[in-house]
Amino acid sequence: MLRALMTAASFLALSAAAAAETTLLSGGHVIDVERGTVLKDHDILIEDGRIKAVGRAGTLGASGATAVAMQGAYLLPGLSDSHVHLTSRSDIHGYRRLTVSTARAAISGVANAEKTLRAGFTTVRNLGAPGFADVDLKSAIDSGEVPGPRIIPAGQSIGITGGHCDSNLMPYESRETGGGVADGPWAVRQKVRENKKFGAEVIKFCGTGGVLSKGTTIGAQQFTLEEMKALVEEAHELGLKVAVHAHGAKGIASAIEAGVDSIEHSSLITDESLKAAIKKGIFLSMDIYVSDFILGEGEAAGILPESLEKEKIVGKAQRERFQAAVKAGAKMAFGTDAGVYTHGMNGRQFAYMVEWGMTPADAIRAATIGNAELFGLKTDIGSLTAGKRADIIAVTGNPLTDVRELEDVDFVMKDGAVFVNELAE
Ligand code: ARG
Repeated sequence: MLRALMTAASFLALSAAAAAETTLLSGGHVIDVERGTVLKDHDILIEDGRIKAVGRAGTLGASGATAVAMQGAYLLPGLSDSHVHLTSRSDIHGYRRLTVSTARAAISGVANAEKTLRAGFTTVRNLGAPGFADVDLKSAIDSGEVPGPRIIPAGQSIGITGGHCDSNLMPYESRETGGGVADGPWAVRQKVRENKKFGAEVIKFCGTGGVLSKGTTIGAQQFTLEEMKALVEEAHELGLKVAVHAHGAKGIASAIEAGVDSIEHSSLITDESLKAAIKKGIFLSMDIYVSDFILGEGEAAGILPESLEKEKIVGKAQRERFQAAVKAGAKMAFGTDAGVYTHGMNGRQFAYMVEWGMTPADAIRAATIGNAELFGLKTDIGSLTAGKRADIIAVTGNPLTDVRELEDVDFVMKDGAVFVNELAE
C-alpha cells in the first residue's frame, strides 16, 4: 500500500511540482455529481492545479503527463463541509475549554486541518474560532506550510451578551466576554467590520440559544430583527455571506426575514419558514450526525448536563425537520459541526442524510455542488469539470450505491497535489 504521508517540506515541494506538471488520473469511474451518474472508464487530465479535461480512458492525448492509476476507483469532486470548528477538540468541552489558549487552539487546528483533508474534505467553512485563529490557519495552509483544506474563515462569531456566541461559564468577577459580543444595530455593524478587517470571509452570528452554551434556551431568539437586518446588510455590503446559528422557530424566521445566506442547525424550522427559505434560496445546513456523538460521548468529554438535556430534545426533532426539508425541496448544504465531534469523521453524516430521506446522489450533491453554490465558489469547485480546481477524491466502491464509502476515502488531491493515495497496492 502506498501512502502519501507528507511533511511540511515535501508538501511544499509537491505543490510547487504540481503547479508546473501535468497529471493524468487514469482508469477511474468519474461521478457526475450534478446528474448523479457514473462515467465509466474515464481519465482526468490536470494542469497547473486545475482540471484540463475529462474524457474516455486513453482519449486525452496526455503525453508527458505523470500518470496516476485510479485502479477502477470512483472519482468525485473534493468534499466540502459548510460548518466546522477546526480549532476545537471533541474531547475538550464545557469548563475544559476555559483552559485552552488561542495559541493552543491554533495548534490543534493544524492537526485537525490535516485530518479533515485526509478524510476527503478539500474545502471547509470554519464557523467561529477564538482570536481569528482560523484566519491564521488558512494563511499557513495557503502558503504551503502545513497541509489542510481550503478554509473560508468566519473569525469570531457574533452574538448578544449572554447568548450562545458569548462565553458564559465564569462568574461575574472575571468579566469574561466572547470576542464577538455586540448589542445594538451599530455595535453589530462594527463587529462585522472588525471581522472583515481581521480576515473573516463569512460572517457567523448566533440567532438563537444553543445546546452547548451555558444558560441559553434553544427556542429563544437572540438579537432583535432590527439587529439581524443591520448585521446582514453590513455583511452583504462588504461582500460577505452570512451564516446564522439558529435552532428555534422564531429566530429562524427572523433570520430568513433578515436575509441570511444559510441557517446552521435549522432544528425546529417550521413548514412556513421552509417555504420562505426556499423562496429566498437560503441554504439549510443541518448537522444531523453530531447528536449521536454528544449523547454517546459528550459526558466524558466535559459537555454540561444541561447541554445533554437540551440535546435529547433537539437531536431528534432536527432529524425530523431535516426529513421535512428534503421533502419540501429545500436547498441543503452539507454541514456537520466537526469539532464538537472528532475531526476527520465528517463523512459519517452522509449515511444519516440518506437514512433521513435523501438519495445518496442528493447527499453527495449537498457536499459538493450545493456547498460550492453556498460558498460562492461554483466556478472553482463542486464538480469534476474542465476549468475547475483539481480537488479530486476517490473511493473503491460506488458511493451512489453505498454512501458509506465516503467514510473512508482512498485518494485525495487538492489543487492538483496528491495528499493521500491508498489505491496502489
Ligand atoms: N454547536 C451546536 C449548539 O451548541 C451544536 C448542536 C448540536 N446538536 C444538534 N442536534 N445538531 O447548539
